[in-house]
Amino acid sequence: MEGKKILLGVSGSIAAYKAAFVIRNFVKSGAEVRVIMTPSATEFISPLTLATLSKNKVYSTYVGDKTQGTWNNHVDLGLWADVMLIAPATANTLAKMNTGITDNFLQAVYLSARCPVVICPAMDLDMYDHPSTQKNMTELKDRGHLFIDSEFGELASGLVGKGRMAEPENIQVFFEKYFGNTKPLVDQNWLITAGPTFEPIDPVRFIGNHSSGKMGVALALAAADKGAQVHLISGPGTPRVNHENVNQVFVQSAQDMFDATVPLFNNSQVAVLAAAVADYTPSHVADRKIKKKANDFNIELKPTRDILKHLGSLKSTQKLIGFALETNDEVANATKKISSKNLDLVVLNSLQDKGAGFGYDTNKITLIDAKNNLTEFELKSKSEVAIDIINAIQKL
Ligand code: CTP
Repeated sequence: MEGKKILLGVSGSIAAYKAAFVIRNFVKSGAEVRVIMTPSATEFISPLTLATLSKNKVYSTYVGDKTQGTWNNHVDLGLWADVMLIAPATANTLAKMNTGITDNFLQAVYLSARCPVVICPAMDLDMYDHPSTQKNMTELKDRGHLFIDSEFGELASGLVGKGRMAEPENIQVFFEKYFGNTKPLVDQNWLITAGPTFEPIDPVRFIGNHSSGKMGVALALAAADKGAQVHLISGPGTPRVNHENVNQVFVQSAQDMFDATVPLFNNSQVAVLAAAVADYTPSHVADRKIKKKANDFNIELKPTRDILKHLGSLKSTQKLIGFALETNDEVANATKKISSKNLDLVVLNSLQDKGAGFGYDTNKITLIDAKNNLTEFELKSKSEVAIDIINAIQKL
């Protein structure tokens, strides 16, 4: 919550005392807090208490310093906030919020605020259950406002029921999650393949390729930084990744990569196959080192299974992204892969572009989507390219 700007509106309920704890928790976790109190809230808890805890002056009227003729600017306050919290929100305040009555400074700020609004209702059980209050809450929810609902328990009246304001610690948990969720890929599982595959010929030899795995790693790190849980299936030589959201699994051959990747697809929202998977593998793998002979030596190859195409055939709601590394007729070849492998997006690398392709720390890509929209990017670092790709995937 470091640096987040929270505007707290306190209305006139006995639960106003809880605002002190709410503010203290916010400030402790690094948020900046400004407080507005309705005139009746000031009867329940002193503005001085909330000003001291928030480390900012408390606003409750339009008039600022009478001797200086200054006023409190409700528009500036409304625009300042990342989020506005009304806690406690009385039945009266909810009704005014829903109808646009602006007979106090808090309501003027509320109408000026463009940020998300979170509401913590607090009132007696019958007031809470009353059709007017229920209607106001429903309509405010429909407007997109978030509610931290009242809790059940003993009320100030002595009655027991639902209506008491949520406890400050529960409000804190809500906000920590709320700001955590500004990471846009939280709750998403991403499946990424990276690097080459090594196809064994005998116990000491293999057929490989020059893929470094750097592009797949950059994608995994960028997705993880945006909150995704990433399974990174890595071919040999792919750099090791140390990120709490990345589960990196190393494999050798195309078949190993197939076996590690396919079972994870069903539970993924996005799969990006950046690996340079061998298209062929030796038909027979010698169990002993093959000895040199005088005459020619041929290795018979059989096709590997195309992981991307297989995922395309399994696809339901997932977004599936493939790479195309081409040397000629780049766009036509890449576009064909979209339909033949049932992709949502293809990332085209041309080996004709300097600084793009295997081994470099830079890349130059063109993105082609299933509607054949083409977006060309400049030569950039692979981590910047990863962000461009992820932004395009988010738009899908
Ligand atoms: N791919 C895969 N499994 C394979 C081969 C390729 O998952 N066995 C994926 C790659 O990770 C990449 C995409 O398919 O995302 C493109 O691979 P590529 O080899 O260029 O395409 P092919 O369909 O094999 O066509 P060609 O080699 O003829 O260009």
